[in-house]
Amino acid sequence: DAVERGDYRHYMLKEIHEQPRAVADTLAERLTEDRLLAAAFGPKAEAAFENIKGVHIIACGTSYHAGLIARYQIEQLANVPVSVEIASEYRYRNPVVPKDHLFVCISQSGETADTLAALRMAKERGYRETLAICNVPESSLVREAGLTLMTRAGPEIGVASTKAFTTQLAALAMLALALGKAREQISPEQEAELVRDLRQLPAQIEAALDLDAPLKRLAELLVDNRHALFLGRGAQYPVAMEGALKLKEISYIHAEAYAAGELKHGPLALVDEHMPIIALVPDDELSEKVRSNLEEVRARGGRLIIFAAEDTGFEADEHSHVMILPRGVSKLTRPALYTIPLQLLSYHVAVLRGTDVDKPRNLAKSVTVE
Ligand code: G6P
Repeated sequence: DAVERGDYRHYMLKEIHEQPRAVADTLAERLTEDRLLAAAFGPKAEAAFENIKGVHIIACGTSYHAGLIARYQIEQLANVPVSVEIASEYRYRNPVVPKDHLFVCISQSGETADTLAALRMAKERGYRETLAICNVPESSLVREAGLTLMTRAGPEIGVASTKAFTTQLAALAMLALALGKAREQISPEQEAELVRDLRQLPAQIEAALDLDAPLKRLAELLVDNRHALFLGRGAQYPVAMEGALKLKEISYIHAEAYAAGELKHGPLALVDEHMPIIALVPDDELSEKVRSNLEEVRARGGRLIIFAAEDTGFEADEHSHVMILPRGVSKLTRPALYTIPLQLLSYHVAVLRGTDVDKPRNLAKSVTVE
């Protein structure tokens, strides 16, 4: 193999552990101590981003989840409407493109057939500009998009995407910042603070990787289940979607994600001792709301695995396990941080179930046919 596994049992595990480096590389040379460099998106970006009125983000699979997270961040920092859509849907409807909109496609490989077709269609539709966020410099997507921002994850071999995803989140956080600046929504002081936040991400990921041993034990609780439900709110909702996708892909356990506030509109009916609920509860303005959502689950005898920020007051009991993450983590880096334990948990469940972790059945790394 051109890319060595080293001492790691699987490429996926190696790639999970490469994330601090991959994210640092993706941020490198694009940020100074306290500024996002104008050159980060290339010489044409300034004109392309100026007074932009809306953003359409298109992707598939894990890359789509990165786009969903970016929506929260771009709307927050740039105060501009963002829509996010799966490429295979977008390309077959009649997307209406208002004036001065930016098209963004996200892809690890840059060869996903639906994403590439969506870009080709977008180029005919009168967007202000097209931007590809991609991990493969020589890919079709990069060749054909007007602007590019490369993630620097390095080759990703495991079919289930890990480091490509967190580097996409780093790239998209920079996009949110760039659009916030272009639309004059961010003061130099705020920029300095956001850049400092972003620069902490590699170290935050490194620290989260230390949860490996307890997550391995936790995996034993999930291994015999046929279903699992992931819950989050705000930007943690798409993080939950990505967590569910990882578990599905490599362990073949049926997993779904729900926005925690939607629990009462259906999935609560599924809750019993055979349906583990994995919940994400950072210390944000929604944590109390998630807490009351989880009380509903507890009251119905559901088993909980909670990833919570320190001092959010969750305690383990016979029905719930609590994994603690640091508090005070920036909104910009929190989604990537909460992704790490979910990757490790899925990995360990898959290993216990004896699946082909790096090459799950029926799936391909890059889907180049429709
Ligand atoms: C396949 C892979 C996924 C990936 C998706 C989109 O389904 O198995 O890991 O997220 O394609 O791929 P892309 O290369 O466009 O990000």
